[in-house]
Amino acid sequence: MFIAKAPVEEVIKLENNIYILKIFVPEIASIIKPGEFLNVKVTDSCFPLLRRPFSVCDVEGDFIFLLFNILGEGTKILAHKHRGDLIDLLGPLGKGFNLDGKFDTAIIAAGGLGVAPFPYFIREIGNKKEIKSFIGGRTKTDVITYGMKNITISTDDGSLGIKGNVVELLGQSIQKLKTERIKVFACGPSAMLRNLREFCISHNIECEASTECAMACGFGICQGCPIESVNTPERYKLVCKDGPVFNIRDVII
Ligand SMILES: Cc1cc2nc3c(=O)[nH]c(=O)nc-3n(C[C@H](O)[C@H](O)[C@H](O)COP(=O)(O)OP(=O)(O)OC[C@H]3O[C@@H](n4cnc5c(N)ncnc54)[C@H](O)[C@@H]3O)c2cc1C
Ligand code: FES
Repeated sequence: MFIAKAPVEEVIKLENNIYILKIFVPEIASIIKPGEFLNVKVTDSCFPLLRRPFSVCDVEGDFIFLLFNILGEGTKILAHKHRGDLIDLLGPLGKGFNLDGKFDTAIIAAGGLGVAPFPYFIREIGNKKEIKSFIGGRTKTDVITYGMKNITISTDDGSLGIKGNVVELLGQSIQKLKTERIKVFACGPSAMLRNLREFCISHNIECEASTECAMACGFGICQGCPIESVNTPERYKLVCKDGPVFNIRDVII
């Protein structure tokens, strides 16, 4: 784990309040894996006090890309950074996705900003496996396709793609998908992950999901990010240290 003061290369505004932060941070870019995250101190001052966690969205050479929307004060400050501003980063943190294993097709299931970890995931998988992306949003402006591949879309209100949620979308394709050796990789709102967990258990599909919760330290010291765990000796695991990516069967979301 490194603490770096890294210069901003660029802040790119995508549509609808979505931003990409490109940061020059070779020491972390060279070792970070898909699904791992950075804990970002957005200012040098005491406010906001706590670091903010962000999944690595992509890596290109010495640069790391983060994808975020403006939610509160921290992300607002990040969106207004300029080239050359230094950002205090801690990372790589957490355990990411397991890209190896007995599957030929990676099914990505992402809701809203849940696409964030997948551009790098797709880049790292390369041609080793097939990729199929199922992306959902409440409405068409919530659907983010940045860096994604082989996309099928759903929206709750039917304004883009199929009307319904991502799990329903997967359900419609499951018979066809199950002719391949698949594994699901997911990230999105808790309600989506809860539905997906039931779906994957009932269809006996392997699934790894990136979970979210409020965090402080980001590396297992403050005990502030417990998640209830099943099928393991411990009753709770820590999202920052044992996750954020878990086998979806092993945690109660
Ligand atoms: C492992 C991990 C990876 C993440 N990756 C990304 C990412 O790639 N892109 C991204 O945009 N966001 C990501 N997040 C969420 C991100 O950390 C929060 O959106 C960010 O901290 C908000 O900071 P803020 O100061 O702008 O908002 P705050 O002022 O801190 O919060 C604004 C509002 O959002 C709520 N909120 C804050 N954090 C979360 C959260 N984690 N889940 C649900 N609600 C929250 C608060 O309760 C409050 O109501 C990730 C979170 C975790 C734990
Ligand atoms: S955020 Fe401190 S233990 Fe997880």
